[in-house]
Amino acid sequence: MSGKVLGLLSAPGGVGKTTIAATLGWFFRESGKKVLLIDMDPSISLSWLVIRDDFELMDYEERGKTLTRIFQLKFEMEKRVDLKDFLITKRYPSDRDLPIDLIIPDLKFTNIVDSLWVNRARREMMLRDVLEELDVREKYDLTIIDTIPFFDRKYSILLTYAVDRMIVPLRPAIIDVYRTQTMLRELPRATALKDEEIYGKIGILFNMVRANTKQARNIGTYTDLIRRKVYAELKVFETVIPYYVSFSRIGTEEEQSGDREKVRKSVEALFKEVSEWIPS
Ligand SMILES: Nc1ncnc2c1ncn2[C@@H]1O[C@H](COP(=O)(O)OP(=O)(O)O)[C@@H](O)[C@H]1O
Ligand SMILES: [Mg+2]
Repeated sequence: MSGKVLGLLSAPGGVGKTTIAATLGWFFRESGKKVLLIDMDPSISLSWLVIRDDFELMDYEERGKTLTRIFQLKFEMEKRVDLKDFLITKRYPSDRDLPIDLIIPDLKFTNIVDSLWVNRARREMMLRDVLEELDVREKYDLTIIDTIPFFDRKYSILLTYAVDRMIVPLRPAIIDVYRTQTMLRELPRATALKDEEIYGKIGILFNMVRANTKQARNIGTYTDLIRRKVYAELKVFETVIPYYVSFSRIGTEEEQSGDREKVRKSVEALFKEVSEWIPS
């Protein structure tokens, strides 16, 4: 088996990376795929979404069941790491759903990445090397990696080298369009990769689209603008994700009847598009 690796990247924060990572993970699990979620955001938002228990998270952190520890062992101590020692398995979105595997970071993840970044050869390959050592492509059909916005470019560089495909969400607003196109134009320089190498991996996704608004009607214009400024053949998902409060309620005590159906319907089309887009 050669599983694929999908990353989430964005220029502004709060555009739905974590939500989309978790939701796609859920959908791919339900379709019978083996899925691994990797949370590479030191503020542990994806981990929180899946685990939803402070004490449990603290316990994993104390026991070193974290991505931070993986980086320490592999790069500082040059020891071998075994995926099964770091896996956390949880039912998601709720206790009634299928289990999904997860690797979590902790607050110290920033420190280790910063210190390794200083003078390590092949530093941009660290995440890719970790995935190889954990053998995720052999063990999972799909590995989904969530990260933080481009303002910490180290994570974006690590991610770019590690993934086959990258979803870049943004809201349909000119400020997000501007920041996204600025980030995308900086990526080749930041990663020292060729335009087509990077842009060929990327799919732009409009999220939080409020129906019948000017911003929603502007999506075509925004798409043209990004393609014109960045890369003419840039993939932009035909699916747009509507703004529904249901997204933040799924799996929580506040979940209301109908929430799942709403989310399911709006993500179904994206799930299909992503499935076809991921190379086989
Ligand atoms: N399509 C959507 N409709 C409504 N709320 C959303 C949608 N997508 C994300 N959200 C909410 O927006 C907030 C930010 O999303 P999040 O996934 O954490 O963004 P990021 O990971 O990019 O910072 C969360 O509260 C999330 O529940
Ligand atoms: Mg996030």
